[in-house]
Amino acid sequence: MKRRLEIVTGMCAAVAVLAMAACGSAPTPTATTAPVATSAPAATATTAATATSAPAATATTAATATGAPTAAATATTEPTATAADAGATATSEPAQPSNAGGPGKAIDLTGDAKAGATIYVDNCKKCHGDEGKGGISNPGSSDGTIPPLNPIDDTLVNKDPKVFATNLDLFVEHGSTPEGSNPKQKMTAFGDEKKLTPQQIADVIAYVISLNSK
Ligand code: HEC
Repeated sequence: MKRRLEIVTGMCAAVAVLAMAACGSAPTPTATTAPVATSAPAATATTAATATSAPAATATTAATATGAPTAAATATTEPTATAADAGATATSEPAQPSNAGGPGKAIDLTGDAKAGATIYVDNCKKCHGDEGKGGISNPGSSDGTIPPLNPIDDTLVNKDPKVFATNLDLFVEHGSTPEGSNPKQKMTAFGDEKKLTPQQIADVIAYVISLNSK
């Protein structure tokens, strides 16, 4: 089929150069003298386009066979989903504290948000504000303020409560120095400095998550 199409195309083009009589589209343009020239290329273009569409299809199949273009194939089938996924992956790369270290014991404990509210008032409020709403200045830091925890940085949020808790735990365990020439306030390493027990950390994390779940 494809081959025959090419032959026909070739013939059509050849004939078009001569008279256009053999091509289906010829009769109308032949009537007027000037448009013949214009319509001939047009006709050729259409046929060429049809001919091109076959190789295009072949290209796609070849590409899929190569392996790499699987993403391209997916993109063609459901572009919205792929775009969303890509976006989600990009955004969900969670913010990490400047201090290294893995999750602490707290993430394996069940936090009590109510107990956490008291721990928050005693340990976190002076820097993160009433109910985590922020607004406390931090001279010498790039942001100029200590980040709020309500609403908390998007990238720390996760539908999976355990992942959400782990993202917060890394900051509470190990502390973090904000970017900037000479930040006055730093996030305290409550776990490493043993200022809070794992259960207290689990409780305050549960409280911060509850603030962001309303
Ligand atoms: C002395 C001030 C101070 C105290 C007290 C403090 N923080 Fe922080 N916290 C900070 C600063 C400053 C940052 C920003 C760190 C950075 O940018 O690297 C921060 C960042 C965080 C973050 C990451 C938020 C983000 O947007 O990156 C979490 C979560 C957090 N603190 C929780 C707590 C909790 C829970 C407590 C109480 C147990 C607490 N903080 C107590 C100063 C404080």
